[in-house]
Formats: sequence, C-alpha cells, structure tokens
Amino acid sequence: MLHAVELSGGRARSFRSRFVRTRKLRDLARYVDRDGRVDFTASPANTHVVAHAGRILALAENGYPWLVDRNLDTIGYHDFAGRLRGPMTAHPKLCPTTGELHFFGYHFAPPFVVYHRLDARGELVVSRPIEIPRPIMMHDFAITQDFVLFFDLPLVFSPEAAARGGLPYAFDASAGARIGILRRDSPESPVRWLEIEPCFFFHPLNAWNTGDTIRIDVARYPDLWRESSGRFGSAFLHRYDVDLARGTVRETALDDLGIEFPRVREDRVGLPTRFGYASRTRDDGIVVGAGLVRYDLETGARTLFDGEGKWMPGEAVFVPAGTSGASTRAPGGRATSNAAGEGDGWLLAFLHDRDGGASHFAIFDATRLEKGPIARVCLPQRVPLGFHGSFIPDEALAR
Ligand SMILES: [Fe+2]
Repeated sequence: MLHAVELSGGRARSFRSRFVRTRKLRDLARYVDRDGRVDFTASPANTHVVAHAGRILALAENGYPWLVDRNLDTIGYHDFAGRLRGPMTAHPKLCPTTGELHFFGYHFAPPFVVYHRLDARGELVVSRPIEIPRPIMMHDFAITQDFVLFFDLPLVFSPEAAARGGLPYAFDASAGARIGILRRDSPESPVRWLEIEPCFFFHPLNAWNTGDTIRIDVARYPDLWRESSGRFGSAFLHRYDVDLARGTVRETALDDLGIEFPRVREDRVGLPTRFGYASRTRDDGIVVGAGLVRYDLETGARTLFDGEGKWMPGEAVFVPAGTSGASTRAPGGRATSNAAGEGDGWLLAFLHDRDGGASHFAIFDATRLEKGPIARVCLPQRVPLGFHGSFIPDEALAR
C-alpha cells in the first residue's frame, strides 16, 4: 500500500492510501509456480516509490516495477518494452548530473545479478550480468560520478532458512564479503572486486569518488539473520575508503547509534555529502521508530529527534530549501537564496503512535531536528511503519 500527502500553497491538499494492484494482489499470482517458473509480475511492489522520466514506479526487489499515477491508481507493470527480463531493485539511483537511473536486479537463479541503466528519457540502454559466486540477497547498491558499486555480502540464499520459516537467506561469514567496482564510462568492462570484513548492510548512506579514491558510508550490521530472518540487531554508521591505485579498503566505525534507512539529499547522490539522515533503531526488535538522527559527517556531530516518547518516525526524506513550490523561506526563517547550504531544508516523515493508532505526516526543519516537527498533518487513518518513500515535485511528472 502506498500513502501520499499532497502539499501545495503551504497546505496539505489531500491524503491517499491505495494498494498497488499487482498480479500478486489482483490474481493471487504465485511468484514461483509448481514447475519452478518465476513470475516477475507477482511481486508486492511494497518497498519504495520513485519518479523517473515522468513515471512513478512502485518497487519491490523481487519483481518488475509497477507504474502508478499521481492519484496512486495502478497503471500496470513496466518491463521497458520487454527489455527487462528480471527483477528490479527497490533502490535505483538517479544520477543528479546526467539524469540517468542506475539499477540492478538480483535473483536466486543465474544470472544472480544484472546491472541496468536507463537514460534520462527512461529507455533501458544498458543490461549486463555481474558475476558473483553464489546467490545472495543484494538489497541496495551505490553510484559515484565515475563508478557503480556492488556489495557481495554473505546473506546467502538458503532454502533451509525458508523451511525454518522466514526469508530464504542466512548469514554465512565463510562466503566472505566484497565490494565490486564498475566504471560508469565502460559499463561492459570487468568488475573489480575488493575484499572487506564479512558483514551485512541493506543501505548505503551515500558514496562518492575523487579520482581513484572512493568513500562509501553505510548502515552496517556486524552480522544478520544467523538463525532466521525474524530478528534484526542494530546497524551502525560505518565508512569504507577505497584506494583503487593501491587496491585497499580501509574500514572505520563512525558511530554507536543504531540506525536504518540512511538518506542524503537526492541531488547529492554519488557526490560528496556533508549531511546524512536516518531513522533510529528500537531495542525491541522493530527496525526503526526510536527517532531520527542527522549526521554532520564533517564535524562528527549528530542531532536527534527522540519521538517525544510517543511518535515512531519512519524514513525521513530530505527536501532542499528553495524547492519550487515548497516555500519562499528557508527553515529557520532565513531568506532562501541560491547560497542555501547542503543541509538547509526540510525532513518529511510519517509519525505513528503504536499505542493510540494515530498517524501524523510531519515536517521538520532539518537544521533544527531536535526541536521536533515545525508542521504536522493529522491523518484521518492509521499509517503504520513502512519502508521507503520520495518527495516528488510537480516538475518531475510534467512531460
Ligand atoms: Fe531498502
């Protein structure tokens, strides 16, 4: 189910919750049939929603993207004129300088990973297999201005894990862990793999490169799902500094706060970033909801929103100050100008009160996160904790 709040002229104009009417929902289609054939239209489309080339795509990593319109009505699945033959990650990366959408798909049958690229018009222009030794869960990846980065982490496909109840993946440190580096200007060239300590991360915060050095910040779990997929530990902000000339990777633990759903502003994806945002992990096994955090990666400072002892925030999405239609004033009352800094803007998040059932859509001044929301929309129905979302300005849908 997708949830949308429409903001215009300083007001919330509408709120909608609608199911994506995938074949899994409509026809109860089976993902794998009795003969072992996989139906990539039978996915839940429940993980992320992004806009590209005038389209809104609802995504889950085991299937095709599903197109919805701005009213959240389902248009249908999208396989790029038959060119996409496998699943699409829920975490494509929009390059802010080229407008290309980079993505991949992973699957338990060969080819285990395929890298894809859409041009700025939404045409699928690159598809190539990425060779890894065994099927794994590969939830997310990263881009920089010059490279595409793949994470071969040891959450290994395991039918036995599924038989115990849960997802068919289990942590196996003996499989090792590697970062794969592909040149963007030579997308058919070999991938270079560099070893890291076995661990798992669902999500990078961001990555960028300066020449042959690459920095990758992630929300890293020391391990995950050793017994089953039923319980999460905590992930922590962690840094990888890759030196391609030397062929080395240096690892640095950056913080001791449990986090998930790390984000940066979308126009800095793949570029150097100072500020990052994340949802804080609860200690009762629920992955997010303890609050929000803003990291200043330059000074090492962090600011926290604690949920006021009641509200469980989901993922926080950053909207830059001066975004068209959003406001004529930057947060903090400063006049908006082109000189607004990287960290000036708003954070949008759904807040849920698990005890009372109420839900709010909240807007924070990102520079004063600790003050709590500066605006709230009291929603007429429950919006439970979900996964990911996007701020989609009108211009992104005008074609
Ligand atoms: Fe995710």
